Amino acid sequence: MHTEQLRIDPADLLQRLQVLGRVGDTGDGGCCRLALTDADRTGRDLVCRWMRELGLRVQVDPVGNIFGWRDGLEDLPPVMTGSHIDTVATGGRYDGNYGVLAGLTVVQALNKAGISTRHPLVVAVFTNEEGVRFQPDMLGSLVYVGGLSLAEAHATRAIDGAVLADELQRIGYLGTAPLPLARPKAFVELHIEQGPVLDAEGGLIGVVHDLQGISWQALSITGQSNHAGTTPMRLRHDAGHCAAAIACFVRRLADEMGGSQVATVGTLTLHPNLINVIARRAELTVDLRNTDEALLQQAEQRLAAFIAELAAAEGVRIGSRPLARFTPVQFDAGVAERIAGQARRLGYDARAMTSGAGHDAQMMARLCPTAMIFVPSVNGISHNPAEHTAPEHLAAGANVLLHTLLELAAR
Ligand code: HGY
Ligand code: MN
Ligand code: MN
Repeated sequence: MHTEQLRIDPADLLQRLQVLGRVGDTGDGGCCRLALTDADRTGRDLVCRWMRELGLRVQVDPVGNIFGWRDGLEDLPPVMTGSHIDTVATGGRYDGNYGVLAGLTVVQALNKAGISTRHPLVVAVFTNEEGVRFQPDMLGSLVYVGGLSLAEAHATRAIDGAVLADELQRIGYLGTAPLPLARPKAFVELHIEQGPVLDAEGGLIGVVHDLQGISWQALSITGQSNHAGTTPMRLRHDAGHCAAAIACFVRRLADEMGGSQVATVGTLTLHPNLINVIARRAELTVDLRNTDEALLQQAEQRLAAFIAELAAAEGVRIGSRPLARFTPVQFDAGVAERIAGQARRLGYDARAMTSGAGHDAQMMARLCPTAMIFVPSVNGISHNPAEHTAPEHLAAGANVLLHTLLELAAR
């Protein structure tokens, strides 16, 4: 068969997604595999087994990144693909998993067709992409590209108090592979869009040219507990009120700024969290994103000014701790063009896109020419058990990945 006719086996891909989806199954169609938990270990063990069954050489680095290495005909920099298999606590079955498993299905197709490539091929699984248990997000790929020292990563404490290095040790993924294992010739990440554009506006393949900046911070508000019934409003130092005011402010800020500005208060805890007690403390997180760095800084500055005013007016203390800060990323036009060319050749409708979500590719772009492939998310839903992509779209994305990798690994 001529290489151009080669296609992945959709059944192989769907089967792998289904089996991995059962690890950390939340019973509602979703997955909970927080980074470096027992469920993540089970998922990692499964993917490593699949890699070995496909004849890949499995290597694990000191931050737990996993690499399945397929030798090329020549000792050249590898062409790398991959993503993550850790999920948010209320995750779906495709976010991250799809990019890793499509990489394995591509290898399965090449093995079956007896095709060798000039450059080695590598399928990567990066540690803690979601950033839910440990911050920042994309931690494993950030360490891989030298954006965070291994020592700092190892010392990172989870929201449940565990230390990252101890958890790597505990689940058996404190590896010894060189860090970085290699500087790839190119990196291509296949991922569900996790947004409404392809599904709503049509288009099967998203050729991702850029990715927006991310600003995460934890806020800690200290007021004064008091009786909810007897304390006059003018005498209150109400941490609960301040937390709610911040959540409303960031919503107004995003609405006012418009464009690509988004803002989310995703976590909020009150203490003592009792119906008739004015909250003495509130902990919350703010997630700000924008495709434009100057505007993202403007959003951060306006929030900081609001917080300072609020603290003075309410007589509370408000502390802020940065959790993640990544500037917007431009992907490589050459790699993006190859993706678009392969999508067209395969007869798929392709369109240029920006990623609203963070991805390991944004880190790999610091190391080598990188771009991403998106496929539609039904109703744009993600980070939700209802996350879904049609099987034929999953297969199409994997075929674009197959031929983009072949093109990059051939020269
Ligand atoms: O937050 C993100 O964008 C990614 O899912 N870690
Ligand atoms: Mn993801
Ligand atoms: Mn995600």
